[in-house]
This record gives sequence, structure tokens and C-alpha cells, in this order.
Amino acid sequence: MTVLKSQDEIKRMADSCRIVAEVLDGIRKKIVPGVTTKDLDDYVESFILSRSAKPAFKGYRGYPASVCASVNEEVVHGIPSARKLENGDIISLDIGVFFNGFYGDAAVTLPIGSISAEAKRLLTVTEHSLQAGIEKAIVGNRLFDISSAVQQCVESEGFSVVRNFVGHGIGRNLHEEPQLPNFGKAGEGPRLVEGMTLAIEPMVNAGGWEVTVLDDGWTAVTRDRSLSAHFEHTVAITKNGYNVLTKL
Ligand code: MF3
Ligand code: CO
Repeated sequence: MTVLKSQDEIKRMADSCRIVAEVLDGIRKKIVPGVTTKDLDDYVESFILSRSAKPAFKGYRGYPASVCASVNEEVVHGIPSARKLENGDIISLDIGVFFNGFYGDAAVTLPIGSISAEAKRLLTVTEHSLQAGIEKAIVGNRLFDISSAVQQCVESEGFSVVRNFVGHGIGRNLHEEPQLPNFGKAGEGPRLVEGMTLAIEPMVNAGGWEVTVLDDGWTAVTRDRSLSAHFEHTVAITKNGYNVLTKL
């Protein structure tokens, strides 16, 4: 069942989401060659705690950290470690916050130093696909209008959308109904109504869409080891249109 939120609840969610946006903004200046993904996790955790909020991912199904840090061919759920970022890498940073009863969830993929033209295009297209999806998040549309917009944006550029992981409803729980695939048919799926709050999160591979999970039980990588990018926003559907809650 999809839980609809009142205007007051959406205001409260906006507070959680603002913390997410602030961490993702602050972390940009930390993204330099030589920094470890563990350093980034420390930054994220202390920032969130300093705002009297809780890192939503830490302890979620046993996940051990506050940020998911996925480098290059890693798609999602990379576990922070002593790995140092290098010039030319890309890193996907996914952050969840729990504050005042509600969750916020967002992700960005950032370049380290100067990256290849192909990597740049992957980042641009993935971010555009998120925006294309968000623009369909309006009352009266259907859920897979979002999915289809993301998929078309990605595939028209020769990239592929990951199929084993999906976006989701979000609110008093990190993951709520409905599931939101990044592929599907426009005009299908549940009707979008006022009060829905969705985490829209395209995961896009430069090569094939298939992924495998490493032996650590978490890190998802592209099967063909091509690069992968991930952008995510938490979005509320209101009577005045979509409201991107994780934007500063
Ligand atoms: N951000 C992920 C999502 O949107 C959640 C990460 S799962 C965790 O579903 F276990 F790593 F926390
Ligand atoms: Co999410």
C-alpha cells in the first residue's frame, strides 16, 4: 500500500531531505585524489550526527556505513574502505538521513579530477535522466511515465538502465511502496496522486545493464565492468507539481 503524506508531513520530510542535500553539497570539496572512501564516510556520519539526525543506511539490513560509496564499475552499495580515490575515477555517493520521524534519500555521481569524455557523458546523461523522470512526477500521470522517461533518455544515448535495483516510495520508512523501476511503459502503472513521496534513482551503465554482487555481499558491479553512475532525489507530488525535496 502506498502511504500518502499530508502537507505537514511533507514539510517534515523536507527537513530530513535538506540535511541530505547539505551533506552532498559539503562533500564535493572532499572529492580529491588521495581521499579514502572511509574518510568520506567519516565526514558524512559526523555531519549527520551534528544535525541531531541519524544516518539511515548504517545498520540497515546490516549495512556497515553511513554512505554508499561506489567507484567506477561499482553500481551501488559500495562499502567505504581504505581505497584512495584517483584522478580519473568517478564515485557515486548515496546518502540517507532519518530525522524527526521521516527519511530523506539522495545520490550523486562526481568526477575525481579530470575524467574521460565517455565518463563525462555518462554523468550528464544519468543526471538528465533523473530530471526527465522528475518532470513526469505530477498528479494524473502514471508511475511508469517516470520509468519510461528515464529509460528513453538513457537508451537514446546508447547507455543501459540497471534492472535489478529500483527507486521506491519513502517516508516514515526508507523503502515504501511503490517500487519504481527505471524502465517501463508510459501510460502504465498506478496513477500518481497528491501526497506521494518517491525516491527516483536511475542507475545507468555505460555497457550492458547486468550487475553482479561481490563477495562482500553488498557491492554491486557491472557484469562487463563498464562504468556506472547513479543520481537520486526524494520528490513529493503536490497539487502544484513536483517538489524536489533533496535539492538545496
Ligand atoms: N539508497 C539506497 C536506496 O535507495 C539504500 C541503500 S541500502 C543500504 O534504496 F543498505 F545500503 F543502506
Ligand atoms: Co533510494
